[in-house]
Amino acid sequence: MAIHLQSMEISHFRGINQLLIDQFNHVNIFAGDNNSGKTTVLEAMLLLQNMSSFTNILRVARLRESLSFSRSVSAYESFLNLFPRNGESLEISVKANYHGKEIFTQLVGETKMIMLDPQTMMSRVNNSNRNRLLADLNSGIHEMSAFYGELRYGMNHFRDQMKIEFDQYSSTFGREIKKNSDINMVYLSPTDHLRGSIFSRIIKNDAYKRICIRALQLFDPQITDLLILENDQGLAPVEYLQHEVLGNMPISTYGDGIKKVIAIADAIVRASGGVLLIDEVETAIHAKYYDDIFRFMIKASLEFEVQVFLTTHSIEAIDGFLATQDYEHQSNQDAINVITFKKENANAKTLSRVLPGRRVFMNRDQFGFEVRL
Ligand SMILES: Nc1ncnc2c1ncn2[C@@H]1O[C@H](COP(=O)(O)OP(=O)(O)O)[C@@H](O)[C@H]1O
Ligand SMILES: [Mg+2]
Repeated sequence: MAIHLQSMEISHFRGINQLLIDQFNHVNIFAGDNNSGKTTVLEAMLLLQNMSSFTNILRVARLRESLSFSRSVSAYESFLNLFPRNGESLEISVKANYHGKEIFTQLVGETKMIMLDPQTMMSRVNNSNRNRLLADLNSGIHEMSAFYGELRYGMNHFRDQMKIEFDQYSSTFGREIKKNSDINMVYLSPTDHLRGSIFSRIIKNDAYKRICIRALQLFDPQITDLLILENDQGLAPVEYLQHEVLGNMPISTYGDGIKKVIAIADAIVRASGGVLLIDEVETAIHAKYYDDIFRFMIKASLEFEVQVFLTTHSIEAIDGFLATQDYEHQSNQDAINVITFKKENANAKTLSRVLPGRRVFMNRDQFGFEVRL
């Protein structure tokens, strides 16, 4: 089993005032109602991916915006939404135990209203923010909000910090995330499979490709191969599925279940030796495939040493994962933890409950009731 992250503690991040999850397993299922904070926990984990990078923080801030980019709020507003609303101080902290070592990242600061200096600002903003700045200046606005703070991070005995300044007219463009992550992490959103996945990594590994094709054959037994072919427009190559009857068909012509399985399979290889986060794992997959698809996921994650964190609000999906462990016949192995959250009121701590998969399996009816609550 691959247990890279052993525990995690989150403070003052979005709707979470305080949360400790003290025991992770190879596969960790965050279960619970809508708005219980599942996605927030995955986002907090992503802050650990690149601890010295402010761009990584902005990327996490923008994750939920990326689907409707043209109608999204400003980068500054999404950034401020990382901090708890009505919180007294702006101080996000995420700590974790990673291979027995403590790692942490902390963003501390304050917002101030400062005078807008039109000349400096005009020379600084990029094209997309220039119109907004001009419109604001024309309507007589002469102040702006800005965040001043520090990003502190550390691993073991190493500690460092950097100054952060970000304001209403700052943008996220042109900021590069540094190549080497602190932890190899891959995040799959509930809609990423619709973007068209790139399966180039899958087809590089012949044995793995065959396993993936078998997973796709659950949906359509006549799928025989994954191919990347030159495009007839001479642009980027396109992904095809080879089909016994239909011939080569672009992946875009297939249904969402197939795309989701390819996206998951690809994400597992990319997360090799690291951490895979899947938000709403069951999206696009029909319940009748859960057992087989999840069995494939667990096998592949073991093979590539990928620790998996996933969210679901479906008790049937949890059943599917528990079925992979064969608890009735296996007496000691358990690769799964099921984690639920509870928050009594807006200002309270979030309490986590970590249950070994086996316990959930044995108390299935009671647990099912709680998840649906
Ligand atoms: N900055 C914030 N301050 C306070 N609460 C927030 C903030 N951002 C989001 N929330 C709250 O968090 C909840 C959404 O959490 P989320 O992690 O998306 O839940 P889930 O993924 O379990 O559906 C909502 O109730 C939302 O109001
Ligand atoms: Mg969510």
